Amino acid sequence: MSKIETVGIVGAGQMGGGIAHVSALAGYQVLLYDISPDRIEKGIATINGNMARQVASGKLEESDRKAAMERIRPAAELADLAGADLVIEAATEDETVKRKIFTQLCPLLNPEALLATNTSSISITRLAAATDRPERFIGIHFMNPVPVMKLVELVRGIATEDQTFEMAKAFVGRLGKTVTVSEDFPAFIVNRILLPMINEAIYTLYEGVGTVEAIDTAMRLGANHPMGPLQLADFIGLDTCLSIMQVLHDGLSDSKYRPCPLLVKYVEAGWLGRKTGRGFYDYRGEHPVPTR
Ligand code: CAA
Repeated sequence: MSKIETVGIVGAGQMGGGIAHVSALAGYQVLLYDISPDRIEKGIATINGNMARQVASGKLEESDRKAAMERIRPAAELADLAGADLVIEAATEDETVKRKIFTQLCPLLNPEALLATNTSSISITRLAAATDRPERFIGIHFMNPVPVMKLVELVRGIATEDQTFEMAKAFVGRLGKTVTVSEDFPAFIVNRILLPMINEAIYTLYEGVGTVEAIDTAMRLGANHPMGPLQLADFIGLDTCLSIMQVLHDGLSDSKYRPCPLLVKYVEAGWLGRKTGRGFYDYRGEHPVPTR
């Protein structure tokens, strides 16, 4: 494989959709797969809405939006990704789900195709072992919202070949993003630092040190963060936040990473943040309202 022209994406949620968005704008052909046609349709509608927003704010020409949207095609089945030169898995942050996808996907792909995961925390080496191509497997970790955030972490597994790394780096460069390289340790760099901060904010709430509003205002205005940590947790998804804390806790065996029981409770309630309409804030009305 010498050139990437077609990018296959597994998962049309906020991350997969964002990756499809920036890949199509960079001129790649995109094949977008999810487990139901509804999800793909919804994903493509969201991408279109986000691109329209960029047109409205003068960041994108209407003709470029139209051309990019035409480059995104729905893949109704995993087998439809057979023609991709690079496939990026952006499914739920659950190792069993990801392993199952790789097991089903690998026999369908061109043997030369590169395979990547957008995991935000799981070992690249361990996921690579579930594929038939650990040397052509790599972690390409995008940040949310993908069209806005400038960073992408690249993570090599133990077997990742230099050529795979170089091709992934060139791909990220063509998207206009900056690469940072992380070793393959739990949660890599960004989430190793960010998620314990968010977890600590949830402990701060749990212990009654401050309300949701007090904690978010404190960090927005007191530390110049663009979003408060609880608002950011809702934005990332509380299920994803919990998974990342569990990976840190299990992978580093240090009690300082124990997930806050209040985070566990929200996830058990199905209050997963913005995507389900409720988390630390209730998003069902006109304005978000703190739930505690
Ligand atoms: N697609 C396209 N454009 C988008 C967008 C999207 N999904 N979301 C926001 N934008 C654009 C808006 O159109 C707007 O553009 P203009 O300036 O041209 O108007 C710009 O981004 C700013 O958006 P808003 O005015 O709506 O809101 P804002 O100023 O509050 O910024 C934000 C929104 C960029 C998300 C900002 O709040 C922010 O940077 N938040 C922190 C995000 C963050 O930390 N992300 C990392 C999460 S961790 C992660 O992703 C790793 C992981 O694995 C969990």
